[in-house]
Amino acid sequence: MTATTAKPTSLSNIPLDIPTPTLVIDKAVALRNIKKLADYSKKHNLGVRPHTKTHKSIFFAKEQVKAGAVGLTVAKVGEAEVMANACNDLLLAYPALDPFRTGRIADLAKTHTMRVGLDSAYAADAIAAAAVAAGSTVGILVDLDLGFHRTGVQNPAEALALAQHISKTKGLRFDGVMFFPGNLWGDEPKMIQDLAALSVNLDEILLTFRKHGLEAKIVSGGSTPTAWLSHHVAALTETRPGTYIYNDRNCITVNVATIDDCAARIIATVVSNAVPGKVVLDCGTKTLTSDRLILDPNTAGHGYIVEYPKAKLVRLSEEHGEMDLTGCDRVPKLGERVQVIPNHICPCVNLQPHAYIKHENGSLEKVVVDARGLLS
Ligand SMILES: Cc1ncc(COP(=O)(O)O)c(C=O)c1O
Repeated sequence: MTATTAKPTSLSNIPLDIPTPTLVIDKAVALRNIKKLADYSKKHNLGVRPHTKTHKSIFFAKEQVKAGAVGLTVAKVGEAEVMANACNDLLLAYPALDPFRTGRIADLAKTHTMRVGLDSAYAADAIAAAAVAAGSTVGILVDLDLGFHRTGVQNPAEALALAQHISKTKGLRFDGVMFFPGNLWGDEPKMIQDLAALSVNLDEILLTFRKHGLEAKIVSGGSTPTAWLSHHVAALTETRPGTYIYNDRNCITVNVATIDDCAARIIATVVSNAVPGKVVLDCGTKTLTSDRLILDPNTAGHGYIVEYPKAKLVRLSEEHGEMDLTGCDRVPKLGERVQVIPNHICPCVNLQPHAYIKHENGSLEKVVVDARGLLS
């Protein structure tokens, strides 16, 4: 990633009575990011169903809904139960099939439009049984594997068989398809090419459905790196980016965000300078996780230090972040605080019981990370 010169930012000078390491969110930047995607989507007549796994916050979910989101996405039923406070239209983009999840999904469907993305008749039947028992109906999106190879049916015939099964099953409603292009990271021309290829496969599946009398009302796809290129997939009705609200170092490397667009940062304190050539921050894997930079996993280190753009966070232990100072024109002092932009912000948010929101007037508000730690 390109290092720019250090400059004071809006999150400098967090009061010393706030303990570190801590997560601070610049509200104005987060709202700007929400508006930017809302404007793009309006222009291209696309719905946005933001993935709330990034912020896990009822407050920011409500802001996304206010900006025109057609609904919200979650990965976990616990997240759905929390986000039910922000929106009445939820997509669980995860193959929930065990009794710990299905009963709660069916219960949510009594009061909310509840949809699940899944890739097996097994999961469909499990949700159907729970829905019938609860007296509710759950909308289903068939999860398609269009290149990420994580989940999703593998070809038009499998997609059709599952869609037909769903359409015939009591307690379920066939609503359409979803996919996650998590394999697409890179420069814009390459991503446009890849999205065109993906589009061909997607269109073939939708055509197969139509030939058999099935219409996918919802075609839900998208990630943060592909968000601004979604208009290259003509069949899409909605996108599901999550990271875009805060952005992170991965987003900077693929030019979908600048440093100034990174709304959420870890504030850390320099706790040791005893070993020559480095200083140690009070943030290790229990704050930043071990996630590497996607496009440079081996040499890029564990985060971007805003005040020391040439420094590298070379090694993490659980509570220590070792900052190599080679190339830096100054050396951080003991007790100094710095802002770290994590490689991948989403799991970092999940590690924090609370965060500080910096309001437009500069005040800091301590808030709970509402859906933190809800893993089922
Ligand atoms: C199914 C699904 N949809 C949407 C997203 C959001 O993508 P991003 O994190 O790039 O914003 C994710 C991310 O993991 C996902 O797994």
